[in-house]
Amino acid sequence: MHKKLVCRHCPLPACFPGWLALALLLALASAAGAVPPGKVSWTSQVTAAYRALGALDPDPLTRNPDYLAARFVDKDFLGQQLYLPADFSQALEAIRRRGSRTFFYITARTKYIDQVLAQEAAAGLKQVIILGTGLDSRPYRFRRQYPGLRFFEVDLPATLAYKQQQVEAALGSKPAGVTYVAVDFDKDDLGQTLARAGYQADRRTLFIWEGVTYYLQEAGVRATLGLVAKGAQPGSRLVFDYLLQEALDRINSGDADGRAGTAARARHGEPFLFGIKHGHSRGFLAQSGLVLVEELGSQQMVSRFLTGNKGQAIGRPSQGLRLVLAEVPPPGR
Ligand SMILES: C[S@@+](CC[C@H](N)C(=O)[O-])C[C@H]1O[C@@H](n2cnc3c(N)ncnc32)[C@H](O)[C@@H]1O
Repeated sequence: MHKKLVCRHCPLPACFPGWLALALLLALASAAGAVPPGKVSWTSQVTAAYRALGALDPDPLTRNPDYLAARFVDKDFLGQQLYLPADFSQALEAIRRRGSRTFFYITARTKYIDQVLAQEAAAGLKQVIILGTGLDSRPYRFRRQYPGLRFFEVDLPATLAYKQQQVEAALGSKPAGVTYVAVDFDKDDLGQTLARAGYQADRRTLFIWEGVTYYLQEAGVRATLGLVAKGAQPGSRLVFDYLLQEALDRINSGDADGRAGTAARARHGEPFLFGIKHGHSRGFLAQSGLVLVEELGSQQMVSRFLTGNKGQAIGRPSQGLRLVLAEVPPPGR
């Protein structure tokens, strides 16, 4: 006879087979498909915790440049949510044992986007919009070298309020040149909200959309791409990442490798929803009016950002994730 027990981690009877419980949880979460209102994004803390860990890498060639992440993220998050020790080499060993690739991907992604931002800032860029900013520290890390840069940090209200609180606790106050903008990409008019916040559409702008597209519905992704393509000055750029549709399908079919991460994201209301088919990113961007400048897969990430001072790769990101740089073309192109 089945006992009517309730699982400690979810409201389902414990007698359900595990796979059925997971499938139900996933179905419920993807029906909601969004960070629950009032809740701080869990994945924004995951990525910041991985950056904080990566910043401890003794090798400068593979170190994550986000030296502020440790001050922004909850100090217990790494141990209590990711079950990793705070010691870099022990944590690396644990990550390798688990076969997890997220840590390596996050390091490559931070380094790539930092590189794009530094190049743009050196070329005279004045305005940066960070879409789904989470605990991104770039406004605070880049301000010394580029004090004229203005940053708009865009996210859901609860995550943005938490970010502000963490920034103030770490730095004393919110520095000048940073504006927080509360938006839901799936529901709100991003263009209007940004304009009200002081975004100057006649200035060349860099849009950073890091670790966000896969949590959105396709309509939200297209609306945001359209806003950049049609609302930004030609020559403006968008750096973002996406999940291959093939990888998303594998994850959604219960791929054994990704099962723990899938269940955790679903539990926190942040399931993966969106992907682009292999070989279709250029066309997908063109449908919104953007031009693909560059796309990096796992191999390029390893050679450009994850190869250490002895020529060895620290680790390999998943093959299913891509880093992309796109540009707003001149009118009529
Ligand atoms: C994985 S986190 C990435 C955060 C940050 N960009 C980083 O790389 O650390 C995803 C972010 O997207 C935000 N986000 C998710 N859905 C959103 C939506 N519909 N509208 C606005 N922001 C959203 C979350 O609140 C969260 O901060």
